[in-house]
Amino acid sequence: MALIMKTAEYDCSIFERDIMSDIVRLDKYLADLSVGSRSEVKKYIKKGQVRVGNQVIKDVGYKVDTKREVVYFDNKQLEYNKYIYLMLNKPAGVVSATQDNLHKTVIDLIDKKYHRNIFPVGRLDKDTEGLLLITNDGKLAHDLLSPKKQIPKTYYAVIDGRVTSREVMEFEKGIKIDEDFTTLPSKLKILESGEASKVEITIYEGKFHQVKRMFEAVGMKVTYLKRISMASLELDASLELSSYRELTDDELRMLKA
Ligand code: URA
Repeated sequence: MALIMKTAEYDCSIFERDIMSDIVRLDKYLADLSVGSRSEVKKYIKKGQVRVGNQVIKDVGYKVDTKREVVYFDNKQLEYNKYIYLMLNKPAGVVSATQDNLHKTVIDLIDKKYHRNIFPVGRLDKDTEGLLLITNDGKLAHDLLSPKKQIPKTYYAVIDGRVTSREVMEFEKGIKIDEDFTTLPSKLKILESGEASKVEITIYEGKFHQVKRMFEAVGMKVTYLKRISMASLELDASLELSSYRELTDDELRMLKA
């Protein structure tokens, strides 16, 4: 079920990775759940403290099928949350990628205990701040990024230039940002209009540098950009830059709805 799509935001076979991650080595499974460090859990396994179903397993490399098998440590049942959902307040200066030879990535900001095939859902430019969902749920990522779904994304932006009702109307019609590409209608809300204007803009696509290119097309420059929401998910105002937290059950339920 490999699904490969290429847009500015979405360019990997995340479904494929997702399915493979149902099978996890027993020592990793226990370490992921913070039962102990990798070397500690190996000792527990060898001492017979770990059971899979009714069977004590002493092989640290035993492959656990996380969907079907139940694991016990010292006779206590463990619950493996296969999926991780984190809301990150991305700072400027880090790239929205899982790996990069030159720059720090958003994944580098996340504690190792969450490093189970996680990736950012979509991309924010290196200098853009704000809401970024980090997960290992390929299906949810696909649903949020699929161009067909036209998921709203709202940004707070500071613009070098006076934004007026004229731009509001133009953005409502759609902006030609390329020879052969005009954006869907977008919502532009003026918070402050002046030599430097403050706005909120909601777009329904995820083209490369889309917001910056939309303002460029009307002769203005974005000097600061921060994503404040994506679908039903809103950036938690109490999250400092570079901080993150797990989504609440309500946030997750609404996001999947
Ligand atoms: N639009 C942009 O121009 N940059 C971003 O990071 C996101 C949307």
